[in-house]
Amino acid sequence: MARNRRDFLTSSAVAAALTGGAALLKPSIVAAADDSGPPLQHFPGYGAPTDVRAIEIINLRELEGQAQKVIPAGGFGYIASAAGDEWTKRENEAAYKRVTIVPHYLSGLDAADTSTTLLGNHISMPIVVTVMGGHGLAHASAEAGSARGAAAAGTLMIAPSQSNVTLEDTMKAGDGPKFFQLYIPKDRGMTRDVLLRAKTAGYKAVTITIDAFVSSNRETDVRNHFHSPLPNANFPGVGGGGYGSSPFKENLGWDDIAYVRDVTGLPVFIKGVLSPALATEAIKHGVAGIQVSNHGGRQLDDTPASFTMLPRIADAVGGRIPIIIDGGIRRGQDVFKALAMGANAVALGRPVLFGLALGGWMGVQGVLEHLNTEFKMTMRLAGAKSVADISKAYLNVSS
Ligand SMILES: Cc1cc2nc3c(=O)[nH]c(=O)nc-3n(C[C@H](O)[C@H](O)[C@H](O)COP(=O)(O)O)c2cc1C
Repeated sequence: MARNRRDFLTSSAVAAALTGGAALLKPSIVAAADDSGPPLQHFPGYGAPTDVRAIEIINLRELEGQAQKVIPAGGFGYIASAAGDEWTKRENEAAYKRVTIVPHYLSGLDAADTSTTLLGNHISMPIVVTVMGGHGLAHASAEAGSARGAAAAGTLMIAPSQSNVTLEDTMKAGDGPKFFQLYIPKDRGMTRDVLLRAKTAGYKAVTITIDAFVSSNRETDVRNHFHSPLPNANFPGVGGGGYGSSPFKENLGWDDIAYVRDVTGLPVFIKGVLSPALATEAIKHGVAGIQVSNHGGRQLDDTPASFTMLPRIADAVGGRIPIIIDGGIRRGQDVFKALAMGANAVALGRPVLFGLALGGWMGVQGVLEHLNTEFKMTMRLAGAKSVADISKAYLNVSS
């Protein structure tokens, strides 16, 4: 197996090699937090973009090429690529095109409301920022920039364990609701500490990623000899080493899910659900919600598109708990189709980091609002007046 690791599992050994024996790169603050947003951190040896500005967006797909021009090559490859042949990554987007929308014309509607609630949190759109480790690879404001952008757009962010700023700084950067994502450390003391910090900071739920307990074959990173040199601010001193020497558990079970719930008392989501059977079992084990995901094709290649599995998962869940779906959502129509097929919200990944790279928090706000504008247009043209109104009755699934 190649030596890449799960998302942003930094290796102190590799970083030390990159920095001539020094520890992981220590940031220096080069611009203070003010009206232009959270502080920009300069990581010596990694030239993250620093622009904070509104960006022009024609569509989300075009942002990738623009972002490639400003993100250092290794960081861009890490963000944009996926595992193996990258079939699953492509399939995530392709699956949405196999289902078409049947509009309900002459419905007499003159407006559409995109707001909704997720686990009791009111959000302006059924679009949230998914978990991504290492926002600092895209922009010097790192996770704090994305948090401010998500809050400015009125929506929720799932903040990563593997973060370049602390979970407390991410929380402070924007007043929108946030979930905290956990890769479960082997050490229960470390697990407990980080969970209690997240609870104290005000995170509303914990999202446990279940599909990245061992590393995958990210060939672009191998080709680029890329190992993130940025620090993991939530677990200072934790490097990673590769597969086999990770400080994170590689043998996850339902007892781990129960442990997280018992320690925090917070609702627990599991992220990486791809089968109706697992969704049913999750409900039996008391999870508060699921995120249907194949990790953007970054873990096990040749797993099905998340959207392909959604209808059967939604049937199994039967509305008992909320469903978030991620993977390949690039158009407002995709958001509409995911909701029609039974998701409560979609989670957006790579385009958020591309927006962050191009315009800091304002770029993230722009990406989310652009996708929501397309979603609202789709609702208007399809004849749906509210998120609750969107159902399978608007889809043609046999096309
Ligand atoms: C750069 C990057 C880092 C990621 N890091 C994590 C992570 O730490 N934990 C996790 O559960 N998922 C992680 N993911 C997966 C995303 O949450 C999501 O499943 C994936 O990006 C699919 O969405 P997309 O097609 O919109 O990018 C990461 C994705 C990217 C692109």
